[in-house]
Amino acid sequence: MGALFFAFLIGLVYGSINVSEAASQYHAAAAKSGLSQWDFLNSTLGGRLQKGTPLSAPCFPVVDGKNVTVNSTACAIVQKGYADPLFRTSIFGAYMLPQWEGCLSEAQQCLLDSSNTSNPAAWTDFACSQGSIPPYYIDVRGPSDVQAAYAFSLATGVHLSIKNSGHDYKGRSNGRDTLALWMHNLQSIKHIKKFVPDGCKSSISYNAITLGAGAYFQLIYEFAETHNITFVGGYHETIAASGGWVQGGGHSILSPNFGLGMDRVVEFKVVTPDGEYRVANECQNEDLFWALRGGGAGTWGVVLETSQKVEPQLKLQVASISFNQTATNPGPFLKIVTQTALTWGKEGWGGHIGANNLIKVNPKLTLNEAIASMKNVSDYAISQNGKVTIETLPSWYAFFQKYVIGAQAAVGGISTLGTRLIPTAHFETKEGVNAIYEMLMGFLPVANPYIVVGTPFLYNYTKGSTSSTPAWRDSLWHLGMHENWQFNTTTAQKVAIYQSVSKVVQSVRDITPNSGAYFNEGDVYEVNHEQAYWGDNYPRLLSIKKKYDPHGLLDCWQCGGS
Ligand SMILES: Cc1cc2nc3c(=O)[nH]c(=O)nc-3n(C[C@H](O)[C@H](O)[C@H](O)COP(=O)(O)OP(=O)(O)OC[C@H]3O[C@@H](n4cnc5c(N)ncnc54)[C@H](O)[C@@H]3O)c2cc1C
Ligand SMILES: *[C@@H]1O[C@H](CO)[C@@H](O)[C@H](O)[C@H]1NC(C)=O
Ligand SMILES: *[C@@H]1O[C@H](CO)[C@@H](O)[C@H](O)[C@H]1NC(C)=O
Ligand SMILES: *[C@@H]1O[C@H](CO)[C@@H](O)[C@H](O)[C@H]1NC(C)=O
Ligand SMILES: *[C@@H]1O[C@H](CO)[C@@H](O)[C@H](O)[C@H]1NC(C)=O
Ligand SMILES: *[C@@H]1O[C@H](CO)[C@@H](O)[C@H](O)[C@H]1NC(C)=O
Ligand SMILES: *[C@@H]1O[C@H](CO)[C@@H](O)[C@H](O)[C@H]1NC(C)=O
Ligand SMILES: *[C@@H]1O[C@H](CO)[C@@H](O)[C@H](O)[C@H]1NC(C)=O
Ligand SMILES: *[C@@H]1O[C@H](CO)[C@@H](O)[C@H](O)[C@H]1NC(C)=O
Ligand SMILES: *[C@@H]1O[C@H](CO)[C@@H](O)[C@H](O)[C@H]1NC(C)=O
Ligand SMILES: *[C@@H]1O[C@H](CO)[C@@H](O)[C@H](O)[C@H]1NC(C)=O
Repeated sequence: MGALFFAFLIGLVYGSINVSEAASQYHAAAAKSGLSQWDFLNSTLGGRLQKGTPLSAPCFPVVDGKNVTVNSTACAIVQKGYADPLFRTSIFGAYMLPQWEGCLSEAQQCLLDSSNTSNPAAWTDFACSQGSIPPYYIDVRGPSDVQAAYAFSLATGVHLSIKNSGHDYKGRSNGRDTLALWMHNLQSIKHIKKFVPDGCKSSISYNAITLGAGAYFQLIYEFAETHNITFVGGYHETIAASGGWVQGGGHSILSPNFGLGMDRVVEFKVVTPDGEYRVANECQNEDLFWALRGGGAGTWGVVLETSQKVEPQLKLQVASISFNQTATNPGPFLKIVTQTALTWGKEGWGGHIGANNLIKVNPKLTLNEAIASMKNVSDYAISQNGKVTIETLPSWYAFFQKYVIGAQAAVGGISTLGTRLIPTAHFETKEGVNAIYEMLMGFLPVANPYIVVGTPFLYNYTKGSTSSTPAWRDSLWHLGMHENWQFNTTTAQKVAIYQSVSKVVQSVRDITPNSGAYFNEGDVYEVNHEQAYWGDNYPRLLSIKKKYDPHGLLDCWQCGGS
């Protein structure tokens, strides 16, 4: 019954449905079927609705207040894979930052001890709760799955969530009692040398790859290596290139030369909440295209596919410098780093810098130039008995395999962060450099700084082409810090940690009052977040939100139109 009803409504045509009409007929059809709400939805999906459960549930004797039998085989698999991003991303009920497998405000969780996953205190001192794991999800395979979810949500009032890789820092890809759309299994990747955006004249074409929503960096980098091209993407194996990353901005340490993810995307295929399956690019639905380029994910529609530009294979100079941190040795290191930042920016370096280490790449310099450019900081690291490697690698993939997989931010442990974009002007004067240096020294008693040299510093931006804060365009650093906690940290301590991060970010805001922040990595309590994330673009974004989401079906924390 249900299946027939939906087949009629959707017409099995991937064009459009009238979501209002589908919703208004929904109750009658559900009643006629005699099925419960969820069983009816399941029948409209041909039996493909699935139950979401927290990753670590098999380890717990008490789950959602009920005594259950521990499954030690399943538990051992979770214990082994707990910190492995490839394992986590393959499981619906797992997030990279496992606090989002619980519900912070209600002190509900289902966590292992990430420092020792065999520690029984995790399941004897705590029970496992469903928390914010969506109780039901659809493993999305095409536009009609998304259209069915919209109609269901409008008819029943059940909220939707969209989960891709599960990297979000603010729990925007989960949601208590929501119906989730899981994008992970749409993993197609195609290289099209002359990609003409749909509806454009054939004179407009790009060397591009077309990606299913769930394709993530490790897969894409492998593919690019095989095809002798370079994909400009982020610093982690499992972030999906077409979800939160590209729609929120998307930094790469290649961005100083080649732009951000949002600069490089040339087409989206997206089901908007009015039920339409649309193509958005420079030749059609241009307003939606603009909103999706920096407006932040989870709010404009459900993206099924993107096409993004690629570069030829690149040879890279790589600098990896580190030393063991003491109470006093980060100071002189950070002094050199702040003093040299502008020169490095002009030379085309991108990278990540901490209190006692840096990893940077450069596609422009020769090896000798790279060694000379790094001399002061190398000398300092050596003086601290540290390690210096400066070498040429044949490709981004070679670099990624050798340097990133071991150094990327850990997952499975709990952390939060806050950041700010640091305008280039601060690095142009002695006073400015000093102010940045003093600010970084102020971080140290709390946590090490997280400096991303990943702004589009040398990239030739087409004004007005993206909707995120224009602060990206005249910033040199994306700067912030992380704080961590454990499975047994109390709610009061967690509150204090969030406040501590906000306080440090405020110290950065104070010296960069007219700048902005990166939507994906901002302070959870970002002050005046519309201004910080979108600046003057916000009013136009809001009108686009009303146009494509007339019923307000998509919503998330500090998202556009939330
Ligand atoms: C360990 C780690 C390393 C990181 N490194 C980088 C980095 O190098 N560069 C960088 O720029 N950022 C980085 N980030 C931040 C990352 O870009 C964001 O967390 C981003 O939102 C992840 O997007 P996702 O879709 O993969 O994750 P999810 O958590 O699955 O989704 C994030 C948001 O996007 C929405 N969404 C996901 N898919 C879709 C879709 N298909 N259609 C519509 N909405 C969708 C979700 O609803 C949610 O709101 C990192 C984060 C972590 C935790
Ligand atoms: C969708 O259906 C509703 C209710 O039947 C109707 O009012 C509305 O005009 C329709 N919208 C479109 C775009 O056809
Ligand atoms: C959906 O239906 C299928 C087939 O009847 C069943 O196997 C599955 O368990 C159902 N899903 C849920 C969440 O009940
Ligand atoms: C769960 O088991 C404990 C003993 O292990 C028992 O005291 C308790 O009553 C049980 N709870 C339920 C809901 O069965
Ligand atoms: C326990 O977990 C394993 C591995 O996931 C699974 O194959 C098995 O069916 C589970 N056993 C029970 C009783 O659920
Ligand atoms: C982890 O915890 C288990 C159980 O308490 C203990 O036996 C083991 O020694 C611990 N491992 C480490 C590395 O601390
Ligand atoms: C790979 O691309 C580079 C840069 O365009 C080119 O010089 C090289 O010949 C290509 N290698 C192969 C095997 O095609
Ligand atoms: C090294 O530091 C000295 C002294 O501050 C400075 O003059 C010089 O330009 C620096 N060299 C490089 C390569 O940055
Ligand atoms: C830090 O110290 C340890 C122990 O002396 C040493 O093995 C390691 O190589 C040092 N690391 C760096 C980056 O210098
Ligand atoms: C920058 O882009 C503009 C317009 O897109 C173009 O006219 C100009 O030549 C470009 N400049 C460089 C240095 O590539
Ligand atoms: C949390 O657990 C760790 C490891 O079992 C233990 O050392 C620590 O004392 C615990 N902290 C609290 C606040 O209970």
